[in-house]
Amino acid sequence: MSVVLEVENVHKVFGKPGEPFWRRLRAKRSGSSENDQNGKNGGKRRVVAVDHVSLTVNEGEILGVLGPNGSGKSTLIRLISTLLLPDEGSIRVFGHDVVREPVRVQALINRVSVEASFFKKLSPMENLIYGARLYGMEGRETRRRVLAILGRLGLKEHDIYNPMEQMSRGMQQKVAIARALLSEPRLLLLDEPTTGLDPRSKREVQAVIRELRDEHNVTMLLTTHDMNEAEALCGRIAIMDQGKVVALDAPDALRALAPSSNGHQPTLEDVFLELTGRVLTSEEAPAA
Ligand SMILES: Nc1ncnc2c1ncn2[C@@H]1O[C@H](COP(=O)(O)OP(=O)(O)OP(=O)(O)O)[C@@H](O)[C@H]1O
Ligand SMILES: [Mg+2]
Repeated sequence: MSVVLEVENVHKVFGKPGEPFWRRLRAKRSGSSENDQNGKNGGKRRVVAVDHVSLTVNEGEILGVLGPNGSGKSTLIRLISTLLLPDEGSIRVFGHDVVREPVRVQALINRVSVEASFFKKLSPMENLIYGARLYGMEGRETRRRVLAILGRLGLKEHDIYNPMEQMSRGMQQKVAIARALLSEPRLLLLDEPTTGLDPRSKREVQAVIRELRDEHNVTMLLTTHDMNEAEALCGRIAIMDQGKVVALDAPDALRALAPSSNGHQPTLEDVFLELTGRVLTSEEAPAA
């Protein structure tokens, strides 16, 4: 089995004292740190976001990453996608180092972020044509490809030409995945692709993810707060806590890590709570 992604002893700290003065000043003024879209940290606190993480993802696998808020999941994804530089360790995608060969890596991967942004007044077709131009694709052939990809994700003709702002979040998330597929990535990084979706949209997006794996041999790394989703989609699951991978195994093997109570087999949620010692917030709790 060939290895698609190798993460070796990767470490990333935010808010280091050595960070340029102007960056911290700018962070202070704006109330957020440089390239921090979520306004986290404020650029003041020193945060070990990813703490000596090692993992591998094999071809055709969906590796799930579960973890409480702030445990470093998105940072790990941004490190893999060359948007951030690791302080220590190495990351290779199909053998290419993300720091030394970022362009080679970028050609092999794509990322769907938790809050995908679009031109909301434009249609999925217009948004994807715009996206395609960024990959150097133009012309009639691009239109045909965009139609094929959107059709594959279940978008109807009517949705394809209507403004994005009129679409449900589930549908918008599918368009985000479609956009990421334009570059034909061999490794897709999905950061909470189903967070905030209703059960039906969630299932639709999950079906798309399965199809990508089963019919298009796309390897994926997927973060989620939904234990059921991780179990349903992922062959193996890494549990992160405070920047560290505290467990990484198949769902069944993970379940063995939590004590069974009253003869009941532990759930993945039991394992999560056992390993992270945290209580799920209602936002994180899996949908019933
Ligand atoms: N650009 C940044 N600048 C400073 N600190 C950051 C930045 N990005 C993330 N952090 C901090 O790093 C830690 C890990 O954040 P990260 O976003 O990776 O967590 P997460 O597991 O994705 O959380 P969530 O489940 O809320 O999405 C947090 O403490 C966060 O505040
Ligand atoms: Mg995140």
